Amino acid sequence: MSLPTRLYCGAVLAAMFLAGLELYAQPAQLLVDADHRTAISLDGTWHAIVDPYGKGLYASDGSVLQHGYGENRQPKSKADLVEYSFAKSPTLQVPGDWNTQRKDLFFYEGVVWYQKDFAYTPKPRTRAFLHIGAANYRAYVFVNGTKICQHEGGFTPFDCEATSVLHGGHNFVVIAVDNTRLRDGVPALRTDWWNYGGLTRDVSLIDVPEQYIDDYDLHLQRDTTTGIAGYVHVQGASAGEPVVVRIPQAGIVRKAMTDASGRAEISLHAPKLELWAPEHPKLYRVEIQAGSDHLSDEIGFRTIEVRGTEILLNGTPIFLRGVSIHGEAPIRGGRPTSEKDDETLLRWAKEMGVNFVRLPHYPQSARMLRLADRMGIMVWEEVPVYWAIEFDNPLVLTKAQQQLHEIIRRDRDKASVIFWSVANETPVNPARNAFLESLISSARAQDGTRLVTAAMLSSMHGNEIQVNDPLGVYLDVVSFNEYAGWYQGSADDVGKIKITSIYQKPLLLSEFGAGAKAGFHADVQTRWSEEFQANVYRQQLTMLRGVKNLRGICPWLLVDFHSPMRELPGIQDFYNRKGLISDQGQKKQAYFVMQKAYLQRTVGNAQ
Ligand code: GCU
Repeated sequence: MSLPTRLYCGAVLAAMFLAGLELYAQPAQLLVDADHRTAISLDGTWHAIVDPYGKGLYASDGSVLQHGYGENRQPKSKADLVEYSFAKSPTLQVPGDWNTQRKDLFFYEGVVWYQKDFAYTPKPRTRAFLHIGAANYRAYVFVNGTKICQHEGGFTPFDCEATSVLHGGHNFVVIAVDNTRLRDGVPALRTDWWNYGGLTRDVSLIDVPEQYIDDYDLHLQRDTTTGIAGYVHVQGASAGEPVVVRIPQAGIVRKAMTDASGRAEISLHAPKLELWAPEHPKLYRVEIQAGSDHLSDEIGFRTIEVRGTEILLNGTPIFLRGVSIHGEAPIRGGRPTSEKDDETLLRWAKEMGVNFVRLPHYPQSARMLRLADRMGIMVWEEVPVYWAIEFDNPLVLTKAQQQLHEIIRRDRDKASVIFWSVANETPVNPARNAFLESLISSARAQDGTRLVTAAMLSSMHGNEIQVNDPLGVYLDVVSFNEYAGWYQGSADDVGKIKITSIYQKPLLLSEFGAGAKAGFHADVQTRWSEEFQANVYRQQLTMLRGVKNLRGICPWLLVDFHSPMRELPGIQDFYNRKGLISDQGQKKQAYFVMQKAYLQRTVGNAQ
């Protein structure tokens, strides 16, 4: 390669790296409990420009343009050359992925520009934030032609301050979303789920007072279930400002003062609390007042902990009767966009007899978690550190830490969330171990009230499945995936398999299962038939009865879902068919095998 070429390539690589840093260098801010704040919704119809080369966003060297299409430039005269127009472009609905809104975008990976006009009336002594529930995968936000923030991470919320660029009357917002997969992304290039791009969750404009509540945590203390501890942080407050916490139904009113950093420590005695549990998902209205800011939340108080090899909810050993649920709308497909989508999925799970769901492999909507709070379903939440990512790249660790922080900040107030999971099926090597140890300690440092786990690979030797990933040392609950009878060995041999773990910790089977095309019937030897899938499940349940320290199981998974890796014509057609229910809502035979086991409490060796 000639020197000039080498220099040019070096410049492009440097620019792309700086673009990556630049993207991360200005992280968006975070409002807590945004779903309970008064907001101007910007959901609905937006104009959309498909920009396959990212011409309106990136310069030819890969760096991000200062304005690009974010300017929403209008021709100044009939001779003026402007080669884009939002007003003349088609529309997309927000929230929603673009892949399932337009056939020509089903496989699209690249940049789509969104634009919407809105009216606004500035208020004195307030700050205005544009709240985006999720944008997959990178987003660049412009208001009235000025870039106000950017964000990387397809499944976590972010807030961009717009105070200084908004004016009275007409305003417009432009958001560029780029769902191109990145080698140094989180997740990276290969995932067994559809790379749905777009503004996939709610977008709104939120006003807060100059001094506002930007973080809080109120949780039941593990040692005494009559004490609530935590804090409230007031952005912009100095020492000695009053914060009042009320829990009217528990007869609690407590006043505390902020310290120099704006943080008020909270400690409440609450002897008569009704504790949150699946069979009694009690939520309390909690009101927080700080100066002119007021927030109300619905919080369930419970404890989750590990004691020896047991998982304890409110001090009592539990067995997690789970199922995994991807963030895929039932029947319609695409990302869930409504409470109806979430309610259908969680109802199907509840009807099967679950008390627990794993929401793989990325944070799902706050709406889904609020529903789980109300329905009494415990939840495993996960950051998309999935399969092989660049574990030796410091920028990738920073991105994973950011996403973990964003999800803990958003969901720390939700009783249903009992696990933070830091990874799924990651290869065992020193770089990955160091990366995940760092993530685990971050999770613990930010939230000591929940348990930390990860879905680890297991290894099969003869008729033994061993759980011996070194990461288990750092986890509260040792979770592992195995596919005996599907990827490993034949279904008939599954019943003879022994599962051993090298850890004296609670064991959780985070994935097992098999595929079937709903309505395809044959004998138990015929792969893809419902009979084959049901037989694998029966064999698995037989095997699981004798597993020591098994404290939960999580079949993979509730509903068929779109995946670019599943192409078998007539059977998969870009669906992963391991659902117990088809993408059209048909319950397969295996669903009823699991339902019987859960309802009759014959699963595993604990109830
Ligand atoms: C893996 C992985 C899942 C995937 C599943 C499968 O365990 O964690 O994301 O969909 O196996 O192969 O169906």
